[in-house]
Amino acid sequence: MTIPNRVRSVVMPPIDALNTRMAELLAQGRDVTSLGQSVPFFGPPGEMLDAVSDGLRAMPRMHVYGPDAGTPELREALSEKLARFNGISADPGSQIMITPGSNQAFMVTMLTMLNPGDEVAIAAPYYFNHHMAIELAGGRVAEIPLSEEDGFQMRVSDVEQAVTDRTKAIVVTSPNNPTGTVYDPSEIERIARFAAKRGIYLISDEAYETFCFDDSTQFSPGSISDVADNVITLGSFSKTFGMTGWRVGYIVGNSDILSQAVKVQDATAICAAIVSQIAATAALGVFDTFTRLHTQELEERRRLLADTIDAIPALNWERTSGALFAFVRSDFQPPERELSWDILETSGVLTVPGSAFGERWSNYLRISYGSSPRDRYETALEKLRGYFETTA
Ligand SMILES: Cc1ncc(COP(=O)(O)O)c(C=O)c1O
Repeated sequence: MTIPNRVRSVVMPPIDALNTRMAELLAQGRDVTSLGQSVPFFGPPGEMLDAVSDGLRAMPRMHVYGPDAGTPELREALSEKLARFNGISADPGSQIMITPGSNQAFMVTMLTMLNPGDEVAIAAPYYFNHHMAIELAGGRVAEIPLSEEDGFQMRVSDVEQAVTDRTKAIVVTSPNNPTGTVYDPSEIERIARFAAKRGIYLISDEAYETFCFDDSTQFSPGSISDVADNVITLGSFSKTFGMTGWRVGYIVGNSDILSQAVKVQDATAICAAIVSQIAATAALGVFDTFTRLHTQELEERRRLLADTIDAIPALNWERTSGALFAFVRSDFQPPERELSWDILETSGVLTVPGSAFGERWSNYLRISYGSSPRDRYETALEKLRGYFETTA
């Protein structure tokens, strides 16, 4: 059987392999801490757990399919949050679709809009699942290389150079994975206007919308009323509410696109799990208070990471102010295996190799400061320092 190149050529991200190796090391009695996968250290709000446990016995509809586009309650609550927090006006009945996670939202969007060979422009370093989804849907990735000296900001001038007659969409991910950069709102607006003028969709991935530090603020291009029809906003409950395992995300966009996208949803998932949608509705009820709870802790962790990196001559981090991670350049590379794997084997700290985010970033590491419990995190930073002191 011949597997088409569209699938065969896709490269799996190393996260699973790293997690498997970490589990093996733990089983051997080694002490290992993950600063790898983007999973917040905190769990979901108590209100969410209460709603689920009450619902499990009281609501028979928890156990059966719901509407493809999501439960009316969740779409209503989300529409209200989008208006208040994002400045986006979205009709819950026709402009919002709940998906099983926002990775699925991106895949559904690609399957809905791409003809074979259409290009999608993404900033590089890129989020590997975006890259994979574009290729799996038969599209082609057009990379927009960003520069570390510019803090990995995405500029309209860079976008203009990457766009061709085949470009169907431009993806903006702010706060960014893997760099942690929060894009300059006026630059996002310029990109959104450029895309609208050229008739290219702007896809805004806002999975980390509540993780903006210092004086940076989240900006949703879907809030610009005269280009809103051209913007597709993708969001996630995973990071904001510490509920990655519940798999709830969403697509917000014009009703024409959503009425087509729902076919893809129907063919792939029918709907997001109802129990998860009930959980997400309850979580939205405490959005304002819950999202403030962890900001100070994350800022402190970010400072600890900056201090650690400052103390390691081989590492450099142009400090970025959002999401949960730092994209760190290393002047040291071990001779025998990739740096990230060497740190895991030698010192028991899991980081993600920069190569996962594009070939030319192989001398970088993505380090998550928001994933492990605080004491484990601090120990991992000491171990990281120890690794470079003895090895580099
Ligand atoms: C930029 C970005 N978008 C989307 C996702 C996927 O989130 P979800 O759990 O909602 O699928 C991630 C997860 O790491 C991410 O980093």
